[in-house]
Amino acid sequence: MSILYDKIQAYIDDIQATQIENIQDRAARIEMFRVKYLGKKGVINELFEQFKSVPNEEKKDLGKALNMLKNAATNKIEEFKAYVEEHQAEENTGDLTMPTDFQEIGSRHVLSVVMNEIIDIFSRIGFTVAESVEIEDDWHLFSALNFPHDHPARDMQDTFFVEKEEGKQEVALRTHTSSVQVRVMENNKPPIRIIAPGRVFRNEAISARAHCIFHQVEALYVDKNVSFADLKQTLLYFAKEMFGEQTQIRLRPSYFPFTEPSAEMDISCGICGGKGCNICKGTGWLEILGCGMVDPNVLKACGIDPNVYTGFALGMGVERMAMLKYQVRDLRLYFENDLRFLKQFEDIV
Ligand code: DAH
Repeated sequence: MSILYDKIQAYIDDIQATQIENIQDRAARIEMFRVKYLGKKGVINELFEQFKSVPNEEKKDLGKALNMLKNAATNKIEEFKAYVEEHQAEENTGDLTMPTDFQEIGSRHVLSVVMNEIIDIFSRIGFTVAESVEIEDDWHLFSALNFPHDHPARDMQDTFFVEKEEGKQEVALRTHTSSVQVRVMENNKPPIRIIAPGRVFRNEAISARAHCIFHQVEALYVDKNVSFADLKQTLLYFAKEMFGEQTQIRLRPSYFPFTEPSAEMDISCGICGGKGCNICKGTGWLEILGCGMVDPNVLKACGIDPNVYTGFALGMGVERMAMLKYQVRDLRLYFENDLRFLKQFEDIV
């Protein structure tokens, strides 16, 4: 028999020995197999080409062998395809040790970031975090804080009451974190140096500038000889840490029932550098927080002797801090969880 015959036979043996089970990346490998044998420039066409020039007496056997080769290749491909189909289901359940699909990782909410930053700044000068309840009674919310009985903050307009029954102590969602001051002073002896971050609630219509839920951070320092100068220095330190070294502060006289004297603090507008722009409404200053010396009546109500101790307190809105720091124009954005908004703060951590 001719060399060509042996060659054909060797190919047939080769085809028959090929196993699909062991083949990785099956679809591509099957296609390679098809191209190798049945492709235009494949083995079989090549052999048919050579077949043309063999002596006539050999043609019969060689032709037979060639057809056998062609059938072997075609059958093998059919066999591969059937095998793949049969094992498709198994393949889809897949390898249980494979990593899952990539999950997009979220980021911290800008309010959490700002709140943590405020906590961090105060903790560097010895303040520790105090937390308390969000549903609070009248004593801790108003009475102990020296609110007169007819103060508008006690009004239905401002406060979400949970219980408001004749003869019973009123219970409400806290309207400010100043209530934490009372709880801390009732339960601790001075020196007290706390910072109270938390959620507060007010009965307000939701708009770009107001929301019924927002966040505050309260700070309280009570000890012997705490003075207004300590408050001022603490405020200046905070403003520079929070808004940058170039930041200036100014205090304007104000009124809060629980502090005497009371003040509101402004910082120089970081956007226009104090020249006046639409953020600071042309004034060069931005209102930031309320503060003052703890009213002696408040100390007394909490069991601390105002003849021995003095203290300062301050309270700020977290949403407002974030608004000024990151130029957020609409309060509602904080609560809508629109990814386009949240993603802008991915890198601030
Ligand atoms: N509780 C006040 C508010 O909700 C903020 C505040 C002002 C807190 C002055 C203070 C303070 O501790 O001294 O508007």
